Amino acid sequence: MGARIGVIGLGRIGSYHARNLLTTDGVDALVVTDVDARRTSDVASELDVESAADPDALLASGIDGVLIAASSSSHADLIEAAVRRDIPTFCEKPIADSIESSVRVLATAEQTSVPVQIGFQRRFDPSFVAAYDAVRSGELGWIHTLRSTTLDPAPPPISYIEHSGGIFRDCSIHDFDIVRWVSGREVTTVFATGSNQGDRGIADSGDVDTAATVLTFEGGTIAVVSNTRYNGRGYDCRLEVLGSADSVVAGLDDRLPLRSLDPGTSFPSQEPYTFFMDRFTSAYRAELEAFLGVVAGRRESPCTPTDAVESAWISEAATHSLREGRPVTITEVKDLFLHDKNKAHT
Ligand SMILES: NC(=O)c1ccc[n+]([C@@H]2O[C@H](COP(=O)([O-])OP(=O)(O)OC[C@H]3O[C@@H](n4cnc5c(N)ncnc54)[C@H](O)[C@@H]3O)[C@@H](O)[C@H]2O)c1
Repeated sequence: MGARIGVIGLGRIGSYHARNLLTTDGVDALVVTDVDARRTSDVASELDVESAADPDALLASGIDGVLIAASSSSHADLIEAAVRRDIPTFCEKPIADSIESSVRVLATAEQTSVPVQIGFQRRFDPSFVAAYDAVRSGELGWIHTLRSTTLDPAPPPISYIEHSGGIFRDCSIHDFDIVRWVSGREVTTVFATGSNQGDRGIADSGDVDTAATVLTFEGGTIAVVSNTRYNGRGYDCRLEVLGSADSVVAGLDDRLPLRSLDPGTSFPSQEPYTFFMDRFTSAYRAELEAFLGVVAGRRESPCTPTDAVESAWISEAATHSLREGRPVTITEVKDLFLHDKNKAHT
């Protein structure tokens, strides 16, 4: 018998996941909800699935697993509510919109044995998996540099940005997760910069529309992360892994949104990717198939809250670095967090 899965949050990615779940092996039934009642009824009737009035009702409706794709500012509370009911949980990145909530969710999850998977879909994309394997095989030698690029063609609505936790927690976090995962190393120091030339609303909500972050890893590998909300030519997502013996890249195909000016060059030859959904179609399916394996108890979570919190520390350091205009160590942000926590308790 297949699983009954709940979906909380039915915006861009939640409704997309819900559609994918309906055609994923091992799913028998869906129940959906959104804080916007109109959206709940629209999606439920479009997909011909059950709806629940709110997350509490959905979690109490006898589901085998839940997928959380609500706004980032609600992730922490929703994950905690799900694991407290012993429901295997998939939650979109980031695990929470602040480091305080991220650490709190990790502690709650660790008090239970309920599996939680965080939605870093690049870990399921064939080219990123090949980069991971290339590092493990030793064929690249030692890794001197990683270059991770995520350039969105156009910004999400300001209402989304306001609940996103900022570009480092919302967008760069994909890069921070993938450079950790592929390199197998931990970051020690973060130096970030950012700017605004687009919609004033982004600056007004305390965020930047373009950012660059330099990460130094233990052992000396350096990563350069590049992000923008305004890459008009298309969705550009690449990871270059450059080693002492060989170099590889994930995301360099004929749909790369870059126009070569070199005479006689016909690459890239096709229309650029326009959105993360057309770039990661198979990865989004594969991460849900993995989650169904987690729900059935056949496998462990492939991306745990511990992983997600490690990336959250990098986002936290980047946020401080941008604000203060200097390199910030991960140890420093962890110490600051502990100091603030102790102060709050005295
Ligand atoms: N992995 C990826 O590539 C990827 C891509 C896009 C979005 N995301 C993540 O998915 C989440 C949603 O992003 P989106 O682009 O779909 O945003 P969105 O704004 O389009 O949709 C969010 C939906 O959640 C609903 N919502 C908000 N709070 C809720 C709550 N407490 N309970 C129930 N519903 C609630 C909103 O009404 C809205 O319909 C974000 O956390 C984002 O970071 C991940």
